[in-house]
Amino acid sequence: MGITLEETWNKTPGENDTECILELKELTKQYQSNIALDHFTYTFTSGIYGLLGPNGAGKSTMMNLIARNLKPTSGEILWNGKTPDALKGKYMEEIGYMPQQQFIYEHMSLLQFMYYMAALKGLAKKKAKVQIEELLKKVDLWEKRHCHLGSFSGGMKQRTLIAQAFLGNAHIIILDEPTAGLDPLQRVAIRKMIQDYAKERIVIVSTHVISDIEPIAKEIIMLRKGKLLDIFSLETEQREGETIEDTYIRLFQ
Ligand SMILES: Nc1ncnc2c1ncn2[C@@H]1O[C@H](COP(=O)(O)OP(=O)(O)OP(=O)(O)O)[C@@H](O)[C@H]1O
Ligand SMILES: [Mg+2]
Repeated sequence: MGITLEETWNKTPGENDTECILELKELTKQYQSNIALDHFTYTFTSGIYGLLGPNGAGKSTMMNLIARNLKPTSGEILWNGKTPDALKGKYMEEIGYMPQQQFIYEHMSLLQFMYYMAALKGLAKKKAKVQIEELLKKVDLWEKRHCHLGSFSGGMKQRTLIAQAFLGNAHIIILDEPTAGLDPLQRVAIRKMIQDYAKERIVIVSTHVISDIEPIAKEIIMLRKGKLLDIFSLETEQREGETIEDTYIRLFQ
Protein backbone atom coordinates (compact mmCIF):
# COMPACT_ATOMS: atom_id res chain seq x y z
CA MET A 1 0.00 0.00 0.00
CA GLY A 2 1.39 3.43 -0.91
CA ILE A 3 1.91 6.14 1.68
CA THR A 4 0.30 9.52 1.44
CA LEU A 5 1.83 12.96 1.63
CA GLU A 6 0.21 13.46 5.04
CA GLU A 7 1.93 10.32 6.30
CA THR A 8 5.32 11.63 5.23
CA TRP A 9 4.62 14.50 7.60
CA ASN A 10 4.39 12.04 10.46
CA LYS A 11 5.66 13.51 13.65
CA THR A 12 8.44 11.96 15.64
CA PRO A 13 7.13 10.23 18.78
CA GLY A 14 6.52 12.63 21.61
CA GLU A 15 6.36 15.67 19.36
CA ASN A 16 3.57 17.99 20.31
CA ASP A 17 1.27 18.40 17.31
CA THR A 18 -0.69 21.26 18.67
CA GLU A 19 2.13 23.66 19.45
CA CYS A 20 2.41 26.11 16.63
CA ILE A 21 3.06 29.60 17.90
CA LEU A 22 4.99 32.17 15.94
CA GLU A 23 5.50 35.45 17.74
CA LEU A 24 6.82 38.59 16.12
CA LYS A 25 7.83 41.12 18.74
CA GLU A 26 8.51 44.72 17.79
CA LEU A 27 9.99 43.38 14.57
CA THR A 28 11.64 46.19 12.61
CA LYS A 29 13.55 46.45 9.34
CA GLN A 30 15.05 49.75 8.39
CA TYR A 31 16.81 50.73 5.17
CA GLN A 32 18.60 54.03 5.78
CA SER A 33 15.75 56.44 6.52
CA ASN A 34 13.05 54.08 5.22
CA ILE A 35 11.34 51.83 7.77
CA ALA A 36 10.04 48.86 5.78
CA LEU A 37 8.63 47.11 8.86
CA ASP A 38 7.97 49.23 11.92
CA HIS A 39 7.84 47.58 15.37
CA PHE A 40 5.45 44.92 14.15
CA THR A 41 4.02 42.76 16.92
CA TYR A 42 1.73 39.83 16.26
CA THR A 43 1.19 36.22 17.31
CA PHE A 44 0.32 33.61 14.71
CA THR A 45 -1.18 30.25 15.65
CA SER A 46 -2.14 27.46 13.26
CA GLY A 47 -4.40 28.55 10.44
CA ILE A 48 -4.38 30.74 7.35
CA TYR A 49 -3.53 34.43 7.53
CA GLY A 50 -3.89 36.98 4.77
CA LEU A 51 -1.53 39.90 4.44
CA LEU A 52 -2.99 42.89 2.66
CA GLY A 53 -1.64 46.32 1.97
CA PRO A 54 -0.60 48.59 -0.88
CA ASN A 55 2.70 48.29 -2.75
CA GLY A 56 5.58 48.99 -0.42
CA ALA A 57 3.54 48.32 2.76
CA GLY A 58 6.14 45.85 4.04
CA LYS A 59 4.47 42.51 3.29
CA SER A 60 7.47 40.90 1.56
CA THR A 61 9.81 42.39 4.15
CA MET A 62 7.88 40.73 6.95
CA MET A 63 7.83 37.43 5.09
CA ASN A 64 11.54 37.60 4.36
CA LEU A 65 12.25 38.32 8.01
CA ILE A 66 10.26 35.26 9.08
CA ALA A 67 12.02 33.16 6.43
CA ARG A 68 15.37 34.53 7.65
CA ASN A 69 16.30 35.85 4.22
CA LEU A 70 16.62 39.23 5.94
CA LYS A 71 17.99 40.15 9.33
CA PRO A 72 15.83 42.43 11.45
CA THR A 73 17.19 45.81 12.50
CA SER A 74 15.58 45.17 15.88
CA GLY A 75 12.90 43.08 17.51
CA GLU A 76 12.59 39.33 17.63
CA ILE A 77 10.94 36.22 16.30
CA LEU A 78 9.96 33.38 18.62
CA TRP A 79 8.92 29.93 17.44
CA ASN A 80 7.17 28.12 20.28
CA GLY A 81 8.98 30.41 22.67
CA LYS A 82 12.48 30.00 21.22
CA THR A 83 14.52 32.28 18.97
CA PRO A 84 15.64 30.96 15.55
CA ASP A 85 19.24 31.30 16.74
CA ALA A 86 18.57 29.04 19.69
CA LEU A 87 16.86 26.51 17.41
CA LYS A 88 19.74 26.60 14.88
CA GLY A 89 18.93 24.56 11.72
CA LYS A 90 15.67 23.32 13.22
CA TYR A 91 14.01 26.68 12.60
CA MET A 92 14.71 26.57 8.86
CA GLU A 93 13.18 23.10 8.66
CA GLU A 94 9.96 24.71 9.84
CA ILE A 95 9.89 27.19 6.94
CA GLY A 96 8.31 26.69 3.53
CA TYR A 97 8.79 29.83 1.49
CA MET A 98 7.55 30.95 -1.87
CA PRO A 99 9.21 34.21 -2.98
CA GLN A 100 7.36 37.01 -4.75
CA GLN A 101 9.98 37.24 -7.47
CA GLN A 102 10.13 34.27 -9.77
CA PHE A 103 13.58 32.83 -9.48
CA ILE A 104 13.84 29.40 -10.89
CA TYR A 105 16.53 27.11 -12.32
CA GLU A 106 15.54 27.28 -15.97
CA HIS A 107 17.85 24.47 -17.08
CA MET A 108 16.35 21.91 -14.67
CA SER A 109 13.37 19.74 -15.38
CA LEU A 110 10.45 20.17 -13.00
CA LEU A 111 11.25 16.85 -11.30
CA GLN A 112 14.94 17.71 -10.94
CA PHE A 113 13.99 21.05 -9.39
CA MET A 114 11.59 19.45 -6.91
CA TYR A 115 14.15 16.80 -5.86
CA TYR A 116 16.76 19.54 -5.55
CA MET A 117 14.49 21.59 -3.26
CA ALA A 118 13.58 18.45 -1.29
CA ALA A 119 17.29 17.70 -0.78
CA LEU A 120 17.90 21.25 0.42
CA LYS A 121 15.20 20.66 3.00
CA GLY A 122 16.89 17.44 4.07
CA LEU A 123 14.00 15.27 2.91
CA ALA A 124 14.76 11.56 2.43
CA LYS A 125 14.33 10.40 -1.18
CA LYS A 126 11.47 8.03 -0.43
CA LYS A 127 9.43 10.71 1.30
CA ALA A 128 10.40 13.25 -1.36
CA LYS A 129 9.03 10.95 -4.08
CA VAL A 130 5.62 10.72 -2.38
CA GLN A 131 5.40 14.42 -1.65
CA ILE A 132 6.55 15.51 -5.10
CA GLU A 133 4.01 13.36 -6.90
CA GLU A 134 1.11 14.54 -4.73
CA LEU A 135 2.12 18.20 -4.82
CA LEU A 136 2.67 18.27 -8.59
CA LYS A 137 -0.71 16.66 -9.10
CA LYS A 138 -2.29 19.26 -6.82
CA VAL A 139 -0.84 22.11 -8.87
CA ASP A 140 -1.73 20.33 -12.10
CA LEU A 141 1.86 19.96 -13.30
CA TRP A 142 2.49 16.21 -12.92
CA GLU A 143 2.17 15.71 -16.68
CA LYS A 144 4.90 18.31 -17.18
CA ARG A 145 7.37 16.79 -14.73
CA HIS A 146 9.99 16.01 -17.37
CA CYS A 147 9.81 19.44 -19.03
CA HIS A 148 12.45 22.07 -18.47
CA LEU A 149 11.44 24.98 -16.31
CA GLY A 150 12.76 27.34 -18.97
CA SER A 151 9.87 26.27 -21.18
CA PHE A 152 7.21 27.03 -18.55
CA SER A 153 4.74 29.91 -18.71
CA GLY A 154 4.67 32.45 -15.85
CA GLY A 155 1.68 30.71 -14.27
CA MET A 156 3.38 27.30 -14.47
CA LYS A 157 6.50 28.67 -12.76
CA GLN A 158 4.26 30.20 -10.14
CA ARG A 159 2.61 26.84 -9.46
CA THR A 160 6.02 25.17 -9.29
CA LEU A 161 7.13 27.64 -6.63
CA ILE A 162 3.93 27.08 -4.65
CA ALA A 163 4.44 23.30 -4.76
CA GLN A 164 8.03 23.48 -3.50
CA ALA A 165 6.96 25.61 -0.52
CA PHE A 166 4.96 22.66 0.81
CA LEU A 167 7.83 20.14 0.56
CA GLY A 168 9.16 18.73 3.80
CA ASN A 169 7.50 19.03 7.15
CA ALA A 170 7.41 22.79 7.62
CA HIS A 171 4.88 24.31 9.98
CA ILE A 172 5.32 27.89 8.80
CA ILE A 173 4.36 28.28 5.16
CA ILE A 174 4.96 31.68 3.62
CA LEU A 175 3.47 32.43 0.23
CA ASP A 176 4.26 35.83 -1.21
CA GLU A 177 1.54 36.59 -3.76
CA PRO A 178 0.99 32.96 -4.77
CA THR A 179 -1.92 33.69 -7.07
CA ALA A 180 -0.38 36.56 -9.03
CA GLY A 181 -0.58 35.78 -12.73
CA LEU A 182 -2.81 32.73 -12.37
CA ASP A 183 -5.97 32.20 -14.38
CA PRO A 184 -9.30 31.93 -12.49
CA LEU A 185 -9.36 28.12 -12.45
CA GLN A 186 -5.84 27.91 -11.08
CA ARG A 187 -6.60 30.56 -8.45
CA VAL A 188 -9.42 28.40 -7.14
CA ALA A 189 -7.23 25.27 -7.24
CA ILE A 190 -4.44 27.00 -5.32
CA ARG A 191 -6.88 28.35 -2.76
CA LYS A 192 -8.16 24.82 -2.21
CA MET A 193 -4.61 23.48 -1.91
CA ILE A 194 -3.69 26.08 0.68
CA GLN A 195 -6.78 25.15 2.64
CA ASP A 196 -6.05 21.41 2.42
CA TYR A 197 -2.52 21.81 3.75
CA ALA A 198 -3.20 24.44 6.38
CA LYS A 199 -4.10 21.93 9.10
CA GLU A 200 -1.67 22.19 12.01
CA ARG A 201 0.34 24.78 10.13
CA ILE A 202 0.64 28.52 10.02
CA VAL A 203 0.14 29.65 6.45
CA ILE A 204 0.76 33.32 5.71
CA VAL A 205 -0.36 34.52 2.30
CA SER A 206 0.15 37.98 0.87
CA THR A 207 -2.06 39.09 -1.97
CA HIS A 208 -3.68 42.06 -3.64
CA VAL A 209 -6.71 40.01 -4.58
CA ILE A 210 -9.07 40.03 -1.61
CA SER A 211 -11.28 37.25 -2.98
CA ASP A 212 -8.29 34.87 -3.05
CA ILE A 213 -7.88 35.03 0.69
CA GLU A 214 -11.18 36.17 2.19
CA PRO A 215 -12.96 32.79 2.06
CA ILE A 216 -10.11 30.85 3.68
CA ALA A 217 -8.25 33.17 6.07
CA LYS A 218 -9.00 33.14 9.77
CA GLU A 219 -7.53 36.62 10.00
CA ILE A 220 -6.46 39.24 7.51
CA ILE A 221 -3.73 41.61 8.57
CA MET A 222 -3.69 45.03 6.99
CA LEU A 223 -0.34 46.74 6.72
CA ARG A 224 0.55 50.28 5.79
CA LYS A 225 4.02 51.79 5.79
CA GLY A 226 5.32 48.85 7.79
CA LYS A 227 2.74 49.19 10.54
CA LEU A 228 -0.11 46.94 11.54
CA LEU A 229 -3.19 48.95 10.69
CA ASP A 230 -6.07 46.60 11.32
CA ILE A 231 -6.96 42.95 11.68
CA PHE A 232 -9.98 41.68 9.89
CA SER A 233 -11.88 38.43 10.35
CA LEU A 234 -15.26 37.07 9.33
CA GLU A 235 -16.31 37.73 12.93
CA THR A 236 -15.50 41.42 12.63
CA GLU A 237 -17.28 41.50 9.28
CA GLN A 238 -20.43 40.10 10.88
CA ARG A 239 -20.11 42.31 13.94
CA GLU A 240 -19.43 45.54 12.15
CA GLY A 241 -21.32 44.86 8.96
CA GLU A 242 -18.41 46.06 6.83
CA THR A 243 -16.94 43.85 4.14
CA ILE A 244 -13.22 43.47 3.85
CA GLU A 245 -13.32 45.37 0.59
CA ASP A 246 -15.08 48.28 2.35
CA THR A 247 -12.48 48.13 5.13
CA TYR A 248 -9.65 48.16 2.62
CA ILE A 249 -11.07 51.16 0.78
CA ARG A 250 -11.71 53.01 4.05
CA LEU A 251 -8.16 52.37 5.26
CA PHE A 252 -6.21 52.92 2.09
CA GLN A 253 -8.13 55.45 0.05
N1 LIG B 1 16.63 46.07 -0.43
C1 LIG B 1 15.97 47.19 -0.14
N2 LIG B 1 16.61 48.36 -0.01
C2 LIG B 1 15.94 49.49 0.32
N3 LIG B 1 14.60 49.56 0.51
C3 LIG B 1 13.92 48.42 0.37
C4 LIG B 1 14.54 47.18 0.04
N4 LIG B 1 13.59 46.22 -0.02
C5 LIG B 1 12.42 46.83 0.25
N5 LIG B 1 12.61 48.15 0.49
C6 LIG B 1 11.56 49.11 0.84
O1 LIG B 1 10.82 48.61 1.93
C7 LIG B 1 9.43 48.96 1.81
C8 LIG B 1 8.58 47.69 1.91
O2 LIG B 1 8.80 46.91 0.75
P1 LIG B 1 8.13 45.48 0.56
O3 LIG B 1 8.77 44.85 -0.63
O4 LIG B 1 8.21 44.75 1.84
O5 LIG B 1 6.61 45.88 0.27
P2 LIG B 1 5.38 44.96 -0.18
O6 LIG B 1 4.26 45.28 0.76
O7 LIG B 1 5.81 43.56 -0.31
O8 LIG B 1 5.02 45.59 -1.60
P3 LIG B 1 4.42 44.88 -2.95
O9 LIG B 1 2.94 44.84 -2.77
O10 LIG B 1 4.83 45.85 -4.02
O11 LIG B 1 5.06 43.54 -3.11
C9 LIG B 1 9.30 49.73 0.51
O12 LIG B 1 9.31 51.10 0.82
C10 LIG B 1 10.54 49.32 -0.26
O13 LIG B 1 10.93 50.34 -1.13
MG1 LIG C 1 5.86 42.26 -1.88
